Amino acid sequence: MHEEKEIDETKQGEALMLEKPENGNGKKLFLESYGCAMNFSDSEIVASILKDKGFSTTQDFFEADVIFVNTCAIREGAEQRVRKRLTEYRKAKKTNPDLIIGVLGCMAERLKSQFLEEEKLVDIVVGPDAYRSLPELIEIAETGQKAVNVLLSKEETYADIAPVRLGSNGVTAFISITRGCDNMCAFCVVPFTRGRERSRDPETIVNEAKELFEQGYKEVTLLGQNVDSYLWTGGGLKKENPSAEELAGATTFAQLLEKVALVNPDLRVRFSTSHPKDMGDDVLYMIAKYDNICKYVHLPVQSGNSRILEMMNRGYTREWYLNRIAAIRRIIPEAAISMDIITGFCSETEEEHKDTLSLMEEVKYEFGYMFAYSERPKTLAERKYKDDVPAEVKSRRLAEIVDLQLKHSALRTKEGVGKVHRVLVEGVSKKSKEELFGRNSQNTVVVFPKKDYKKGDYVNVLVTDCTGGTLIGKSID
Ligand code: SAH
Ligand code: SF4
Ligand code: F3S
Repeated sequence: MHEEKEIDETKQGEALMLEKPENGNGKKLFLESYGCAMNFSDSEIVASILKDKGFSTTQDFFEADVIFVNTCAIREGAEQRVRKRLTEYRKAKKTNPDLIIGVLGCMAERLKSQFLEEEKLVDIVVGPDAYRSLPELIEIAETGQKAVNVLLSKEETYADIAPVRLGSNGVTAFISITRGCDNMCAFCVVPFTRGRERSRDPETIVNEAKELFEQGYKEVTLLGQNVDSYLWTGGGLKKENPSAEELAGATTFAQLLEKVALVNPDLRVRFSTSHPKDMGDDVLYMIAKYDNICKYVHLPVQSGNSRILEMMNRGYTREWYLNRIAAIRRIIPEAAISMDIITGFCSETEEEHKDTLSLMEEVKYEFGYMFAYSERPKTLAERKYKDDVPAEVKSRRLAEIVDLQLKHSALRTKEGVGKVHRVLVEGVSKKSKEELFGRNSQNTVVVFPKKDYKKGDYVNVLVTDCTGGTLIGKSID
């Protein structure tokens, strides 16, 4: 998700394209996404809904009839980026006064109709659970009125909508398995922007994976804010105390992983995000059982100090977290592990920051995604605690954590040298047309000479060298 690995919440927006529909209405859509993989996956649902209504897409917003921007609210910086982008759309509105501008996603849900007051050029505000109403909202906006739908749902999973794969490499794809989040981490805006947690019917997930494989895709990433919490008991909100009968017919995340792994041994399965409080050994044994379930666990820790974790309402201590790391190492010894960390959360002392550094030393993560704490309106932390760590302290602590992670990433990457890695090719290397790049099971990027290989092939690569986070080698088949 970050760069070639994962989509970063802070990544610049991307204009997404869909093929021209057969029953075109002549109207052009410019669709851009910010935020996490879930947002990119949602944009594929939005594209599907609008394609059905005859829209085609453009990569030039000056020729668009409708501009949609799918937004992120996770940190203040993410929102500022969207606001800046809106000022650029303003230029297009000057040349085309009929242009409709819609704001989708988490920032839309957070600000609701207040968005219309703050940003006069916006015509439509729509939250993540209301995308089915987009055609209607466009019709309202076409009459010159403003249109808002920010209703959150207890059932919506868009399970019946076949996403249009946008900006795709034709090899890897996302599949949403849950929506929303019930966790209420004190710093986090997601429960407010995406509502309550709902699991999606496993049959529709497996069918989507099958269709993707038939279309030539070789890897799916199952997406949820907390995949371990996935539980299908027939739909709607997660049951507090499911009856024995309900549980007997239920599907857990471990069982879902198995169902998707069984679609085909040549379809790789990834998943994100695991939650330390809910990730059980059953999930780890399932990862170990199937070669095509990737040996990679993204396990955000946020802090290495139990007092801060308690304040964050994460539901685990440092010891619990390290016990989960030990379980991964025991059950899947070859697994790569990555994390998210927040520095400078309310009242964090220097000692507590050092606990985060020492936890990193213990784990030596392969990758990490690190952020300075950004206070979000309405969250528990905003209401209960003071955002009292000075900005310069936050960023100094962040720099220390980033430096240490760079060291660990380099160390872990080096461990891959001298070994053979099974690589799924995703495309031609950015640096040289004569080289391909892909990832190994552990999610590390591997670059090697092209020969006759192509996108979508599995290639055994003997790694002979590395730079920072990338492995370099030669095919041996
Ligand atoms: N559901 C995932 C996280 C989704 S948000 C989980 O529980 O792990 C992705 C990451 O953004 C979080 O893991 C956290 O590290 C970071 N983040 C979330 N809210 C933040 C805030 N207010 N300030 C800084 N970073 C934040
Ligand atoms: Fe936010 Fe916590 Fe839910 Fe992750 S688990 S989305 S950090 S509330
Ligand atoms: Fe951002 Fe919403 Fe994802 S706040 S990180 S786009 S769930």
